[in-house]
Amino acid sequence: MKKYHGAFIKNEREIACLREANRMVANILDAIGDVVAPGLTTQRFEEIARDMCATYKVKPAFLGYCGYPYATCCSVNEQVVHGFPSSRLLQEGDIVSVDMGVVFEGFVGDAARTFPVGEVSEEARRLMQVTEESLYIGIDKARAGNDVYDIGAAVQEYVEAAGFNVVRRFVGHGVGARMHEKPEVPNFKPAMRGLTLQNGMVIAIEPMVTAGTYEVDILPDKWTAVTRDGKLAAHFEHSIAITHDGPKILSISDRGLNRRTV
Ligand code: MF3
Ligand code: CO
Repeated sequence: MKKYHGAFIKNEREIACLREANRMVANILDAIGDVVAPGLTTQRFEEIARDMCATYKVKPAFLGYCGYPYATCCSVNEQVVHGFPSSRLLQEGDIVSVDMGVVFEGFVGDAARTFPVGEVSEEARRLMQVTEESLYIGIDKARAGNDVYDIGAAVQEYVEAAGFNVVRRFVGHGVGARMHEKPEVPNFKPAMRGLTLQNGMVIAIEPMVTAGTYEVDILPDKWTAVTRDGKLAAHFEHSIAITHDGPKILSISDRGLNRRTV
């Protein structure tokens, strides 16, 4: 694999593997989205993810990563990311962010979505909508010749104009044979312009957006990130290849692109 300032440039075969890994992830997220309902546990999402990995004969990417103990991250309400699947019953009005990754033929797929549980508040609905839309605004900047900076700046501007905030503590990333590769992809204006995007780079863009402060705390389990003020957070992530034809979303399921907002 060629490198550009530490970021790997993928060839067509490698991008095809990443597309396949991400297709599986997107299918798993579709299956989880189909069952989300009040009374369900997030442990059920973990089972679905593990069962589908077994069917696909792929490994979950998160399980064991830096000691992370599950295949999925399930983050409810004020939980931003890296929540543990649990036996807590989801309730009408909750929102739940599910993040999932698999390794297919040595390549990592990584994507996330936030789902409403039954009827949710107007604020929750708008938070999810703005977060999802901000992801697509970021994706549109994922073009050769743009800087990583352009992605974060566009995401942040859109999110803040809608009255919400972007988490600073976690960022998107290059993705390939390893889950976290260069470059870092902030969802906010970074201090420096950073890397210029090149064709063949594959990045995960993953805005985490909060209804209140962007400050987060980590729970004593050492993983679960929660908003400091206890307000809601949402998280959407796609893996994107930067190509001669512009940004290509890799995390597309057999049903097609899952996009609730336009
Ligand atoms: N989508 C997250 C990320 O890109 C998932 C990582 S969870 C971990 O960082 F447990 F694997 F760290
Ligand atoms: Co990611």
